[in-house]
Amino acid sequence: MRTLTDLPTPPSDTTERHNADATAAHGFSGSSARHESAVKHVTGRAAYIDDLALPSDALHLAVGLSPKAHGRITAMHLDEVRRAPGVVDVISVVDVPGHTDIGPVFPGDPIMADQEVLYAGQVMFCVAATSHRAARQAVTKARIEIDELPVSLDPVAAVDAGDLVRPTHRQQSGDWEAALADAHHVVEGEQFIGGQEHFYLEGQACVAHPTEDEGVMVHTSNQHPSETQKLIAEVLNIPFHAVTVEVRRMGGGFGGKETQASPWACLAALVARRTGKSCRIRLPRGDDMKVTGKRHPFHNRYRLGIDAAGVISGGDISVTGDCGYSPDLSDAIVDRAMFHADNAYSLGQARVTGHRARTHTASNTAFRGFGGPQGMMVIEAAMEDIARQVGEDPLTVRKRNFYRQGRDTTHYGQTVDQIALLHTLVERLEADSDYWARRRAIADFNARSPVIRKGLALTPVKFGISFTAQHLNQAGALLHVYTDGSVLINHGGIEMGQGLHTKICQVVARELGLELSSVRISASRTDKVPNTSPTAASSGADLNGQAARDAADKLKQRLFDFAAEHYQLDRQEMRLERGELIAGIAGSEQRIAWGTLIQDAYLGRVSLSEKGFYATPLIHYDRHSGQGRPFYYFAFGAAVAEVSVDTLSGEYQVDRVDILHDVGDSLNPAIDVGQVEGGFIQGMGWLTSEELKWNDSGQLTSFGPATYKIPAYGDLPATFKVQLMEGHPNSMASIYRSKAVGEPPFMLGMSVWCALRDALASLTDYRHAVRLDTPATPERVMQAARKARHIAGSTALRTALRTALRTAQASPGAPSGDTSP
Ligand code: MTE
Ligand code: MOS
Repeated sequence: MRTLTDLPTPPSDTTERHNADATAAHGFSGSSARHESAVKHVTGRAAYIDDLALPSDALHLAVGLSPKAHGRITAMHLDEVRRAPGVVDVISVVDVPGHTDIGPVFPGDPIMADQEVLYAGQVMFCVAATSHRAARQAVTKARIEIDELPVSLDPVAAVDAGDLVRPTHRQQSGDWEAALADAHHVVEGEQFIGGQEHFYLEGQACVAHPTEDEGVMVHTSNQHPSETQKLIAEVLNIPFHAVTVEVRRMGGGFGGKETQASPWACLAALVARRTGKSCRIRLPRGDDMKVTGKRHPFHNRYRLGIDAAGVISGGDISVTGDCGYSPDLSDAIVDRAMFHADNAYSLGQARVTGHRARTHTASNTAFRGFGGPQGMMVIEAAMEDIARQVGEDPLTVRKRNFYRQGRDTTHYGQTVDQIALLHTLVERLEADSDYWARRRAIADFNARSPVIRKGLALTPVKFGISFTAQHLNQAGALLHVYTDGSVLINHGGIEMGQGLHTKICQVVARELGLELSSVRISASRTDKVPNTSPTAASSGADLNGQAARDAADKLKQRLFDFAAEHYQLDRQEMRLERGELIAGIAGSEQRIAWGTLIQDAYLGRVSLSEKGFYATPLIHYDRHSGQGRPFYYFAFGAAVAEVSVDTLSGEYQVDRVDILHDVGDSLNPAIDVGQVEGGFIQGMGWLTSEELKWNDSGQLTSFGPATYKIPAYGDLPATFKVQLMEGHPNSMASIYRSKAVGEPPFMLGMSVWCALRDALASLTDYRHAVRLDTPATPERVMQAARKARHIAGSTALRTALRTALRTAQASPGAPSGDTSP
């Protein structure tokens, strides 16, 4: 591990810094080049699926959804649908020539309902018509008969009944029972963590064109084109090479288009093949919200043994993901919740169990953090509980429990690298945010303010980077240099707004010593870079950046060989810098302009095209033993949030947020700061205002922005300071020692939830941590405040009684131990 002393202090205002960098003339890797599509985004010239031009005879699709959450389909009368104006084709599952199950990893996802329906919103049939409106109107003409069956919506009851989409899985380090038995004190609790709608701005959408022979060309808003290619081929019963899938960009994916963009592509391809016409499908927002899976709601339980100082010795944690009706990615998502049940703290001798409950809702899926956030909520809740138990500030307790030397191995057997960075980062944020002075000011304020209470919390994040399915940790790239010297790069990743394409262009520009404007990226396509992994797990830049660098490096070596021979230059000292090939040592360098070099190489019949490949080394995980090294490295971060709560109404506001986040040596600070800001706000929305509601029949009632509240401009903290931790390169050989940034900052939103609990604890004189399920809507905060006042009242009474007893008997009583009422 590198030493962490004498490091440059980050500039005080990151926003100012990255704006200044963005205007710099050069866009070499490391500088804050603006997003490759920024201007197109804001001027409306960036094309999304719905903007693509179609032939005049193209068809528009709409889907008929199940109104019931569970039942047997006894009849589907579609004759009137077929007769409706403009309708060209109507299909149901019997019209599928190949596979009807499009489950991504495990079976269980019928392309259209087959005899039974398993959630309200499940696709039952599909209509193709001459316009979007005609298709949607035709759908309403269907008469469906369903024999209703009991609806299960409670994941805890499902686990008790053994109704799981995948088997239960465990990780264990040491003797957790002994740790509990020998503990000075045991804290325990349970929590419900709400799900989250992705609310990508561009909804699910796809265009499919029939091509020569039996093929299709598909444009889709999609994080995983290779999987969609495979599923389309299987549905159509044609070889994979007959299907090409292209993604130029997405208006947001957030995990919601990792598996759940495929059904629309399969339907569009199917109808395109049947009719010989181009087809477009675009789900209306309400349908999109009903049909697609969300972040898994979780139910978590914990029993943790602590010593007198509040340090965890071990214990038992169980997490239950509400998976919805089918497995989808739930195996891996609940795994990731288990991998992150420790967050930044050593669990000691612990057992972690993960259940995957089946319920009659849409199949819950990937969402930024991929279960990690739901896992971390266990231990962050416990930290607050422990702090109240031992009567110390939660930050003190958190720091005591951090991974450190001697306590540096996770419950799944991976040693945590760069622990010193976690400590330094938190200490620096503690100082920069003035944590302790503000803590005192808040205590004073709260002592004088009976109704409005302020809360403060600093929460860390340690997030594991890599796909936990080992084989997905690979990437490819394809590089072309044209004879004018311009460069075109393709790679296996997808642009969804996160700036991946910009970063990849920067990598290629840096390797070839070119200005960023000389390198262009084109749409991701399965016929250019095949067999790709989804762009997910925050690993897009890590994997594809290395693949692009590999391609650029191979081409560079070939050009060097050519130059050495052709120009009679010294091969040893050769480099590509600022648009030139330079050979020789300082003072006696020889320079060949890039354009000349490329022209000459072409005339010299040197290939100017190259492919690159990368596979992450070192990672492995044995699911049977629950042990391994699933992550190549960890990304760290921390946030301090301050809130003001009206403890009578439950309304609150976030007054100030300070963030310090670790991205190693940043590939692009401007883009990374944007990811940190956006991730934090999205995480805050998940834990505060975004509430999914289903009625007792299993119908989603929050299916639009009127009933589902994502953070808006007015919800921004009044003071919002985001800084990147500088001077701490990745200890692993990642692309230019950077770190992934896509998901980790999401979990910084936990600081807001902890600050709310801190404000509520003030009502009990910081003696009790009141349970606060999420989303912590004003309604839940109000109820928790009422409970806190009740506990405080009865505690005051108990204390008074005890004092009276003590004076009478002159013997001390035991302290109250209830931390999770
Ligand atoms: N940022 C934007 N603007 N839009 C998105 O859809 N998705 C997030 C994150 N940041 C997302 C985003 C998720 S879920 C992941 S896994 C990463 O970006 C994926 O991209 P990366 O691996 O290139 O970071
Ligand atoms: Mo991100 S949830 O891994 O797509």
